[in-house]
Amino acid sequence: MNLEATLGKLYSVYMYPARFPSKIFDLFFSKLEVRGVIFDPFAGSGSLALASYLKCYDSVVWDLNPMIHVIVDASVNVVRGYSVGEALRLLEDALRYGRGWLPSDAGYWWPEQVLDIISRVWGFFRDNMASFNDSKLAFEPYDERWSLYAVIALYASRRLSYTDDSVPKWFKSRYKVGRLATLLSVNDVRELFWRYARLKAVRIARAQESLVKPNCKPNVEVKVVDVVTASKYPDGVAGALTSPPYVQAQEYIRSFSGELKLLGVPDSTISRLRSLEIPYRPPINLNVESPTYQELLEGLEHKYRKLLESYFTNTLQVLERTAENMMEKAILGVFAGEATVRGKPVPIIKVVREHLTRKLNLREVEGGIIEDRIRRRRLFKKRKNMNPNGIQVEHLTLLRKEPIKR
Ligand SMILES: C[S@@+](CC[C@H](N)C(=O)[O-])C[C@H]1O[C@@H](n2cnc3c(N)ncnc32)[C@H](O)[C@@H]1O
Repeated sequence: MNLEATLGKLYSVYMYPARFPSKIFDLFFSKLEVRGVIFDPFAGSGSLALASYLKCYDSVVWDLNPMIHVIVDASVNVVRGYSVGEALRLLEDALRYGRGWLPSDAGYWWPEQVLDIISRVWGFFRDNMASFNDSKLAFEPYDERWSLYAVIALYASRRLSYTDDSVPKWFKSRYKVGRLATLLSVNDVRELFWRYARLKAVRIARAQESLVKPNCKPNVEVKVVDVVTASKYPDGVAGALTSPPYVQAQEYIRSFSGELKLLGVPDSTISRLRSLEIPYRPPINLNVESPTYQELLEGLEHKYRKLLESYFTNTLQVLERTAENMMEKAILGVFAGEATVRGKPVPIIKVVREHLTRKLNLREVEGGIIEDRIRRRRLFKKRKNMNPNGIQVEHLTLLRKEPIKR
Protein backbone atom coordinates (compact mmCIF):
# COMPACT_ATOMS: atom_id res chain seq x y z
CA MET A 1 0.00 0.00 0.00
CA ASN A 2 1.18 3.53 -0.74
CA LEU A 3 0.94 4.90 2.80
CA GLU A 4 1.83 8.45 1.83
CA ALA A 5 -0.88 8.76 -0.83
CA THR A 6 -3.52 7.00 1.29
CA LEU A 7 -2.94 9.23 4.29
CA GLY A 8 -2.87 12.32 2.14
CA LYS A 9 -6.42 11.45 1.05
CA LEU A 10 -7.61 10.62 4.55
CA TYR A 11 -6.50 14.07 5.69
CA SER A 12 -9.58 15.38 3.85
CA VAL A 13 -11.83 14.05 6.65
CA TYR A 14 -11.21 17.25 8.64
CA MET A 15 -8.50 19.89 8.61
CA TYR A 16 -5.94 20.18 11.40
CA PRO A 17 -2.97 22.56 11.57
CA ALA A 18 0.61 21.25 11.34
CA ARG A 19 -0.19 17.63 10.65
CA PHE A 20 2.63 15.20 10.04
CA PRO A 21 3.63 15.28 6.38
CA SER A 22 2.46 11.85 5.29
CA LYS A 23 5.86 10.97 3.80
CA ILE A 24 7.56 10.59 7.21
CA PHE A 25 5.62 7.49 8.21
CA ASP A 26 7.41 5.08 5.87
CA LEU A 27 10.76 6.09 7.36
CA PHE A 28 9.43 5.75 10.93
CA PHE A 29 7.92 2.29 10.40
CA SER A 30 11.04 1.10 8.55
CA LYS A 31 13.15 1.78 11.67
CA LEU A 32 11.02 -0.24 14.11
CA GLU A 33 12.87 -3.25 15.49
CA VAL A 34 10.40 -4.57 18.04
CA ARG A 35 6.70 -5.30 17.81
CA GLY A 36 4.34 -3.45 20.14
CA VAL A 37 2.09 -0.42 20.47
CA ILE A 38 2.63 2.87 18.61
CA PHE A 39 2.20 6.01 20.73
CA ASP A 40 1.80 9.74 20.12
CA PRO A 41 1.37 12.01 23.16
CA PHE A 42 0.74 15.19 21.09
CA ALA A 43 -1.38 13.50 18.46
CA GLY A 44 -3.51 16.46 17.22
CA SER A 45 -5.74 14.91 14.59
CA GLY A 46 -4.30 11.45 15.26
CA SER A 47 -2.47 11.03 11.94
CA LEU A 48 -0.17 8.47 13.56
CA ALA A 49 -3.16 6.37 14.63
CA LEU A 50 -4.30 6.24 11.01
CA ALA A 51 -0.85 5.36 9.70
CA SER A 52 -0.56 2.65 12.38
CA TYR A 53 -4.01 1.31 11.53
CA LEU A 54 -3.08 1.00 7.87
CA LYS A 55 0.17 -0.77 8.89
CA CYS A 56 -1.72 -3.11 11.27
CA TYR A 57 -0.21 -1.76 14.50
CA ASP A 58 -2.22 -1.05 17.67
CA SER A 59 -1.92 2.58 18.67
CA VAL A 60 -2.50 4.94 21.58
CA VAL A 61 -2.97 8.61 20.74
CA TRP A 62 -3.38 11.45 23.23
CA ASP A 63 -4.12 15.13 22.89
CA LEU A 64 -5.61 17.97 24.88
CA ASN A 65 -7.97 18.83 22.04
CA PRO A 66 -11.23 16.80 22.06
CA MET A 67 -11.29 17.12 18.24
CA ILE A 68 -8.88 14.17 18.21
CA HIS A 69 -11.71 11.86 19.22
CA VAL A 70 -13.95 13.04 16.37
CA ILE A 71 -11.30 13.04 13.64
CA VAL A 72 -9.74 9.68 14.53
CA ASP A 73 -13.09 7.93 14.89
CA ALA A 74 -14.38 9.33 11.59
CA SER A 75 -11.15 8.53 9.70
CA VAL A 76 -10.89 4.98 11.03
CA ASN A 77 -14.51 4.41 10.08
CA VAL A 78 -13.77 5.66 6.58
CA VAL A 79 -11.00 3.05 6.36
CA ARG A 80 -13.34 0.38 7.77
CA GLY A 81 -15.78 1.17 4.97
CA TYR A 82 -18.63 2.92 6.82
CA SER A 83 -21.12 4.50 4.48
CA VAL A 84 -20.56 8.23 4.03
CA GLY A 85 -23.90 8.43 2.20
CA GLU A 86 -25.67 7.17 5.33
CA ALA A 87 -24.12 9.90 7.46
CA LEU A 88 -25.32 12.41 4.90
CA ARG A 89 -28.84 10.94 5.03
CA LEU A 90 -28.87 11.46 8.79
CA LEU A 91 -28.31 15.13 8.11
CA GLU A 92 -31.48 15.15 6.04
CA ASP A 93 -33.36 13.94 9.14
CA ALA A 94 -31.56 16.55 11.22
CA LEU A 95 -32.74 19.39 8.99
CA ARG A 96 -36.33 18.39 9.88
CA TYR A 97 -35.56 17.91 13.57
CA GLY A 98 -37.78 19.83 15.99
CA ARG A 99 -35.70 20.05 19.19
CA GLY A 100 -33.04 22.62 18.42
CA TRP A 101 -29.96 23.58 20.38
CA LEU A 102 -27.45 26.41 19.96
CA PRO A 103 -24.20 27.41 21.68
CA SER A 104 -24.69 30.54 23.83
CA ASP A 105 -22.79 32.89 21.47
CA ALA A 106 -24.27 31.49 18.22
CA GLY A 107 -25.78 34.89 17.32
CA TYR A 108 -22.25 36.31 17.03
CA TRP A 109 -20.99 33.63 14.64
CA TRP A 110 -23.93 32.91 12.33
CA PRO A 111 -26.23 35.19 10.36
CA GLU A 112 -29.83 35.26 11.65
CA GLN A 113 -31.17 33.20 8.68
CA VAL A 114 -28.66 30.39 9.36
CA LEU A 115 -29.41 29.93 13.07
CA ASP A 116 -32.47 27.73 12.55
CA ILE A 117 -30.47 25.16 10.58
CA ILE A 118 -27.49 25.21 12.93
CA SER A 119 -29.85 24.69 15.83
CA ARG A 120 -31.61 21.68 14.22
CA VAL A 121 -28.38 20.01 13.12
CA TRP A 122 -26.72 20.32 16.54
CA GLY A 123 -29.91 19.59 18.48
CA PHE A 124 -30.14 16.36 16.49
CA PHE A 125 -26.47 15.60 17.25
CA ARG A 126 -26.96 16.02 21.02
CA ASP A 127 -30.12 13.94 21.14
CA ASN A 128 -29.26 11.17 18.68
CA MET A 129 -25.54 11.03 17.86
CA ALA A 130 -23.29 11.65 20.88
CA SER A 131 -22.83 13.71 24.01
CA PHE A 132 -19.67 15.03 25.59
CA ASN A 133 -18.91 13.58 29.00
CA ASP A 134 -17.17 16.44 30.74
CA SER A 135 -15.70 14.48 33.63
CA LYS A 136 -14.20 11.85 31.31
CA LEU A 137 -13.36 14.38 28.55
CA ALA A 138 -14.77 11.96 26.00
CA PHE A 139 -17.63 11.77 23.55
CA GLU A 140 -20.17 9.09 24.38
CA PRO A 141 -21.78 7.91 21.14
CA TYR A 142 -25.43 6.85 20.82
CA ASP A 143 -24.91 5.95 17.19
CA GLU A 144 -21.76 4.59 15.52
CA ARG A 145 -22.10 7.12 12.72
CA TRP A 146 -21.70 10.05 15.16
CA SER A 147 -18.21 11.11 14.09
CA LEU A 148 -18.87 10.98 10.33
CA TYR A 149 -22.05 13.00 10.92
CA ALA A 150 -19.98 15.43 13.03
CA VAL A 151 -17.23 16.11 10.48
CA ILE A 152 -19.73 16.73 7.68
CA ALA A 153 -21.96 18.93 9.84
CA LEU A 154 -19.00 20.84 11.29
CA TYR A 155 -17.66 21.58 7.84
CA ALA A 156 -20.99 22.93 6.57
CA SER A 157 -21.63 24.88 9.80
CA ARG A 158 -18.21 26.50 9.55
CA ARG A 159 -18.71 27.42 5.89
CA LEU A 160 -21.94 29.20 6.84
CA SER A 161 -20.35 31.07 9.78
CA TYR A 162 -18.56 34.41 9.85
CA THR A 163 -15.19 32.78 10.46
CA ASP A 164 -12.60 32.70 7.67
CA ASP A 165 -12.55 29.21 6.08
CA SER A 166 -8.98 29.46 4.88
CA VAL A 167 -7.33 29.65 8.31
CA PRO A 168 -7.86 27.23 11.17
CA LYS A 169 -8.94 29.83 13.73
CA TRP A 170 -12.28 31.32 14.79
CA PHE A 171 -12.47 35.05 14.17
CA LYS A 172 -15.13 37.21 12.59
CA SER A 173 -13.85 37.97 9.10
CA ARG A 174 -15.10 41.10 7.38
CA TYR A 175 -14.65 39.41 4.02
CA LYS A 176 -16.79 36.46 5.12
CA VAL A 177 -19.55 38.71 6.52
CA GLY A 178 -19.86 40.32 3.07
CA ARG A 179 -19.57 37.03 1.21
CA LEU A 180 -22.29 35.36 3.27
CA ALA A 181 -24.62 38.32 2.82
CA THR A 182 -24.24 37.99 -0.96
CA LEU A 183 -24.62 34.19 -0.94
CA LEU A 184 -27.70 34.28 1.27
CA SER A 185 -29.35 36.96 -0.84
CA VAL A 186 -29.43 34.68 -3.89
CA ASN A 187 -29.56 31.16 -2.39
CA ASP A 188 -31.90 29.26 -0.16
CA VAL A 189 -30.12 28.73 3.17
CA ARG A 190 -31.00 25.02 3.34
CA GLU A 191 -29.70 24.41 -0.15
CA LEU A 192 -26.51 26.20 0.78
CA PHE A 193 -26.02 24.12 3.91
CA TRP A 194 -26.77 21.00 1.94
CA ARG A 195 -24.33 21.98 -0.82
CA TYR A 196 -21.46 22.30 1.69
CA ALA A 197 -22.43 19.09 3.47
CA ARG A 198 -22.46 17.20 0.16
CA LEU A 199 -19.14 18.72 -0.87
CA LYS A 200 -17.48 17.36 2.28
CA ALA A 201 -19.22 14.00 2.00
CA VAL A 202 -18.13 13.59 -1.64
CA ARG A 203 -14.51 14.38 -0.75
CA ILE A 204 -14.54 11.81 2.02
CA ALA A 205 -16.24 9.22 -0.19
CA ARG A 206 -13.59 9.75 -2.90
CA ALA A 207 -10.84 9.19 -0.34
CA GLN A 208 -12.65 6.04 0.75
CA GLU A 209 -12.97 4.69 -2.79
CA SER A 210 -9.26 5.00 -3.41
CA LEU A 211 -8.26 3.22 -0.19
CA VAL A 212 -6.88 -0.27 0.03
CA LYS A 213 -8.42 -1.68 3.20
CA PRO A 214 -5.81 -3.33 5.45
CA ASN A 215 -6.20 -7.00 6.24
CA CYS A 216 -6.41 -6.43 9.97
CA LYS A 217 -8.42 -4.62 12.64
CA PRO A 218 -5.89 -3.12 15.04
CA ASN A 219 -6.89 -1.38 18.24
CA VAL A 220 -6.90 2.42 18.41
CA GLU A 221 -7.04 4.04 21.85
CA VAL A 222 -7.81 7.76 21.87
CA LYS A 223 -7.61 9.86 25.02
CA VAL A 224 -8.20 13.55 25.69
CA VAL A 225 -5.66 14.36 28.37
CA ASP A 226 -3.15 16.91 29.61
CA VAL A 227 0.02 14.98 28.78
CA VAL A 228 2.18 16.97 31.16
CA THR A 229 0.31 15.72 34.21
CA ALA A 230 -1.06 12.40 32.87
CA SER A 231 -0.76 9.77 35.58
CA LYS A 232 0.12 6.71 33.54
CA TYR A 233 1.89 6.53 30.20
CA PRO A 234 1.27 3.50 27.99
CA ASP A 235 3.44 0.40 28.35
CA GLY A 236 4.66 -1.93 25.63
CA VAL A 237 5.46 0.93 23.25
CA ALA A 238 7.59 -0.16 20.27
CA GLY A 239 7.63 3.24 18.66
CA ALA A 240 6.53 6.76 19.44
CA LEU A 241 6.34 9.50 16.87
CA THR A 242 5.22 12.91 17.96
CA SER A 243 5.09 16.55 17.01
CA PRO A 244 4.81 18.98 19.91
CA PRO A 245 3.48 22.50 19.27
CA TYR A 246 5.96 24.72 17.39
CA VAL A 247 6.44 27.05 20.40
CA GLN A 248 3.69 29.67 19.98
CA ALA A 249 2.86 29.28 16.28
CA GLN A 250 -0.68 28.05 16.95
CA GLU A 251 -3.30 28.04 19.69
CA TYR A 252 -4.94 24.71 19.03
CA ILE A 253 -7.88 24.82 21.43
CA ARG A 254 -8.75 28.37 20.40
CA SER A 255 -8.59 27.36 16.74
CA PHE A 256 -11.32 24.79 17.30
CA SER A 257 -13.41 26.66 19.88
CA GLY A 258 -16.33 26.99 17.43
CA GLU A 259 -16.32 23.27 16.62
CA LEU A 260 -15.99 22.30 20.28
CA LYS A 261 -18.96 24.45 21.28
CA LEU A 262 -21.15 22.92 18.56
CA LEU A 263 -20.12 19.46 19.74
CA GLY A 264 -21.36 20.33 23.23
CA VAL A 265 -18.05 20.88 25.05
CA PRO A 266 -18.88 23.39 27.84
CA ASP A 267 -17.33 26.88 27.62
CA SER A 268 -15.68 26.39 31.03
CA THR A 269 -13.95 23.21 29.79
CA ILE A 270 -12.73 24.96 26.64
CA SER A 271 -11.20 27.72 28.83
CA ARG A 272 -9.60 25.17 31.15
CA LEU A 273 -8.09 23.23 28.24
CA ARG A 274 -6.72 26.48 26.79
CA SER A 275 -4.89 27.19 30.04
CA LEU A 276 -3.21 23.75 29.92
CA GLU A 277 -1.90 24.10 26.37
CA ILE A 278 1.87 24.22 25.84
CA PRO A 279 3.42 26.85 25.94
CA TYR A 280 0.58 28.88 27.54
CA ARG A 281 1.19 27.45 31.00
CA PRO A 282 3.87 28.00 33.66
CA PRO A 283 7.29 26.31 33.32
CA ILE A 284 7.94 23.24 35.46
CA ASN A 285 10.98 22.21 37.43
CA LEU A 286 13.13 20.35 34.88
CA ASN A 287 16.79 20.91 34.12
CA VAL A 288 17.21 21.26 30.34
CA GLU A 289 20.50 19.53 29.49
CA SER A 290 21.21 21.28 26.20
CA PRO A 291 23.95 23.85 25.42
CA THR A 292 21.86 25.10 22.48
CA TYR A 293 19.01 25.89 24.87
CA GLN A 294 21.32 27.79 27.25
CA GLU A 295 22.66 29.86 24.30
CA LEU A 296 19.13 30.54 23.14
CA LEU A 297 18.11 32.01 26.50
CA GLU A 298 21.11 34.32 26.69
CA GLY A 299 20.19 37.95 26.17
CA LEU A 300 16.48 37.25 25.75
CA GLU A 301 14.04 39.56 27.53
CA HIS A 302 12.32 38.11 30.60
CA LYS A 303 8.97 37.54 28.84
CA TYR A 304 10.52 35.48 26.03
CA ARG A 305 12.81 33.57 28.39
CA LYS A 306 9.72 32.53 30.34
CA LEU A 307 8.00 31.48 27.14
CA LEU A 308 10.90 29.24 26.10
CA GLU A 309 11.28 27.88 29.62
CA SER A 310 7.62 26.97 29.64
CA TYR A 311 7.83 25.44 26.19
CA PHE A 312 10.92 23.32 26.72
CA THR A 313 10.41 22.18 30.33
CA ASN A 314 6.85 21.01 29.66
CA THR A 315 7.59 19.46 26.28
CA LEU A 316 10.72 17.66 27.46
CA GLN A 317 8.90 16.29 30.48
CA VAL A 318 6.41 14.62 28.12
CA LEU A 319 9.16 13.28 25.84
CA GLU A 320 11.14 11.95 28.82
CA ARG A 321 8.11 10.13 30.21
CA THR A 322 7.33 8.71 26.78
CA ALA A 323 10.90 7.43 26.39
CA GLU A 324 11.08 6.03 29.92
CA ASN A 325 7.98 3.91 29.30
CA MET A 326 9.08 2.59 25.90
CA MET A 327 10.48 -0.92 25.45
CA GLU A 328 14.21 -1.39 24.91
CA LYS A 329 15.15 -0.88 21.23
CA ALA A 330 11.97 1.15 20.69
CA ILE A 331 12.13 4.28 18.53
CA LEU A 332 11.20 7.81 19.54
CA GLY A 333 10.68 10.21 16.62
CA VAL A 334 10.18 13.92 17.23
CA PHE A 335 9.10 16.25 14.47
CA ALA A 336 8.78 20.05 14.66
CA GLY A 337 9.02 23.19 12.62
CA GLU A 338 11.57 25.87 13.35
CA ALA A 339 9.65 28.68 15.01
CA THR A 340 11.16 32.08 15.78
CA VAL A 341 11.12 34.13 18.97
CA ARG A 342 12.13 37.81 18.65
CA GLY A 343 13.44 37.02 15.16
CA LYS A 344 15.71 34.25 16.51
CA PRO A 345 15.18 30.75 15.13
CA VAL A 346 14.40 28.22 17.85
CA PRO A 347 16.02 24.89 16.86
CA ILE A 348 13.46 22.80 18.74
CA ILE A 349 14.66 19.45 17.45
CA LYS A 350 18.32 20.17 18.20
CA VAL A 351 17.46 21.03 21.82
CA VAL A 352 15.27 17.93 22.13
CA ARG A 353 18.03 15.68 20.71
CA GLU A 354 20.75 17.16 22.93
CA HIS A 355 18.62 16.85 26.07
CA LEU A 356 17.30 13.35 25.48
CA THR A 357 20.62 11.81 24.40
CA ARG A 358 22.43 13.35 27.40
CA LYS A 359 19.84 12.53 30.01
CA LEU A 360 18.41 9.20 28.88
CA ASN A 361 19.72 6.06 27.19
CA LEU A 362 18.63 7.25 23.75
CA ARG A 363 20.87 7.28 20.68
CA GLU A 364 20.42 8.78 17.24
CA VAL A 365 19.28 6.34 14.58
CA GLU A 366 21.39 6.31 11.44
CA GLY A 367 19.59 8.19 8.67
CA GLY A 368 17.05 9.38 11.21
CA ILE A 369 17.62 13.13 10.98
CA ILE A 370 15.62 14.82 8.32
CA GLU A 371 15.31 18.45 7.37
CA ASP A 372 12.33 19.33 5.24
CA ARG A 373 12.17 22.71 3.54
CA ILE A 374 8.49 23.45 3.26
CA ARG A 375 7.41 24.16 -0.27
CA ARG A 376 3.76 23.36 -0.57
CA ARG A 377 2.59 23.24 3.02
CA ARG A 378 0.95 26.44 4.10
CA LEU A 379 1.94 26.69 7.72
CA PHE A 380 0.79 29.56 9.87
CA LYS A 381 1.44 32.29 7.29
CA LYS A 382 -0.14 35.73 7.39
CA ARG A 383 -0.51 35.67 11.14
CA LYS A 384 -0.01 38.48 13.57
CA ASN A 385 2.16 36.33 15.79
CA MET A 386 5.82 35.56 16.33
CA ASN A 387 6.07 33.81 12.95
CA PRO A 388 4.65 36.31 10.46
CA ASN A 389 6.36 34.50 7.57
CA GLY A 390 5.09 31.12 8.59
CA ILE A 391 7.28 28.14 9.36
CA GLN A 392 9.99 27.66 6.72
CA VAL A 393 11.61 24.42 7.74
CA GLU A 394 10.66 21.31 9.69
CA HIS A 395 12.98 18.74 11.27
CA LEU A 396 12.63 15.13 12.32
CA THR A 397 14.93 13.21 14.61
CA LEU A 398 14.71 9.49 15.32
CA LEU A 399 16.24 8.12 18.52
CA ARG A 400 16.54 4.52 19.69
CA LYS A 401 16.29 3.36 23.30
CA GLU A 402 19.47 1.48 24.13
CA PRO A 403 19.41 -1.45 26.53
CA ILE A 404 20.68 -0.39 29.97
CA LYS A 405 24.10 -1.99 30.71
CA ARG A 406 23.76 -4.05 33.86
C1 LIG B 1 1.79 20.05 16.05
S1 LIG B 1 0.28 19.54 16.77
C2 LIG B 1 0.25 17.81 16.45
C3 LIG B 1 -0.26 17.49 15.06
C4 LIG B 1 -0.25 16.00 14.77
N1 LIG B 1 1.09 15.50 14.57
C5 LIG B 1 -1.10 15.64 13.55
O1 LIG B 1 -0.59 15.02 12.61
O2 LIG B 1 -2.29 15.99 13.55
C6 LIG B 1 0.64 19.67 18.50
C7 LIG B 1 -0.48 19.22 19.43
O3 LIG B 1 -0.06 19.35 20.79
C8 LIG B 1 -1.25 19.46 21.57
N2 LIG B 1 -0.96 19.90 22.94
C9 LIG B 1 -0.51 21.10 23.38
N3 LIG B 1 -0.41 21.11 24.72
C10 LIG B 1 -0.83 19.90 25.16
C11 LIG B 1 -0.99 19.29 26.45
N4 LIG B 1 -0.69 19.94 27.58
N5 LIG B 1 -1.46 18.02 26.51
C12 LIG B 1 -1.79 17.34 25.37
N6 LIG B 1 -1.66 17.86 24.13
C13 LIG B 1 -1.19 19.12 24.02
C14 LIG B 1 -2.09 20.45 20.76
O4 LIG B 1 -3.47 20.35 21.07
C15 LIG B 1 -1.78 20.02 19.31
O5 LIG B 1 -2.79 19.20 18.79
